[in-house]
Amino acid sequence: MSEPVFLSMPEHVAIIMDGNGRWAKQRGLPRAMGHRKGVEAVRETVRAAGDAGIKYLTLFAFSSENWRRPEAEVSDLMGLLKAFIRRDLAELHAQNVRIRIIGDRHSLRSDILNLLLEAEETTRDNTALTLVIAFNYGSRDEIARAMVSLAEDVEAGRLRAREITPELVNARLDTAGIPDPDLIIRTSGEERLSNFLLWQAAYSEFVFVPEYWPDFGRELFYAALEKFAARDRRFGGLSPQAAAVGT
Ligand code: FPP
Repeated sequence: MSEPVFLSMPEHVAIIMDGNGRWAKQRGLPRAMGHRKGVEAVRETVRAAGDAGIKYLTLFAFSSENWRRPEAEVSDLMGLLKAFIRRDLAELHAQNVRIRIIGDRHSLRSDILNLLLEAEETTRDNTALTLVIAFNYGSRDEIARAMVSLAEDVEAGRLRAREITPELVNARLDTAGIPDPDLIIRTSGEERLSNFLLWQAAYSEFVFVPEYWPDFGRELFYAALEKFAARDRRFGGLSPQAAAVGT
């Protein structure tokens, strides 16, 4: 199948994968089945993004607030991420996909941390799609960690407080070196950011999709790209048409 051509293509798409539990409930299945089906949607979306020529795809896999879920569900989600990396790493590497992890690594179990580090290390020189997995991620936590790192430099005399700029803050975030998301998609009909990429989303376009995450895939992904292509992005300035007529 030839890939659709879009008028303007986002360089970076970030997705809040929501609705696994409701997908399962609708079918009288345990929540774990929703997460399992969710991994299949992850696979299809990663392929679709690569095929469309997207450079960065960020997936919100586990938030710093998700620890509040029942222990069995947390352990299920950890197991699924581990299985995904174990099963799919070789194929992702063969597809020239680079993996990056964002989120707080310090409190992670060593088996998970080692697997994530291995995925990053194995794929570090790959140049096609960068798959950013947000794991144990919370935006306020990320910003606070960046602030601590800057404050430590000020305390040690390496930096003066007045030298702190948005660029310097950017460089201390987990997403350092990754462009801001052009498009953020959230499935399941919810319309909020839920502590995801708060700093980076300053000029992002949003597409909210009513379908639950396990039903997401190539078709809905490309439909969201089409919606993005129809948007007029001004970044606080004027559209070229408005600027031309001086209105
Ligand atoms: C939201 O559904 C989804 C999650 C909290 C986790 C997403 C994780 C996966 C799709 C699997 C592992 C990820 C990777 C990258 C392999 P929910 O449980 O909040 O659904 P609900 O709101 O309907 O209850």
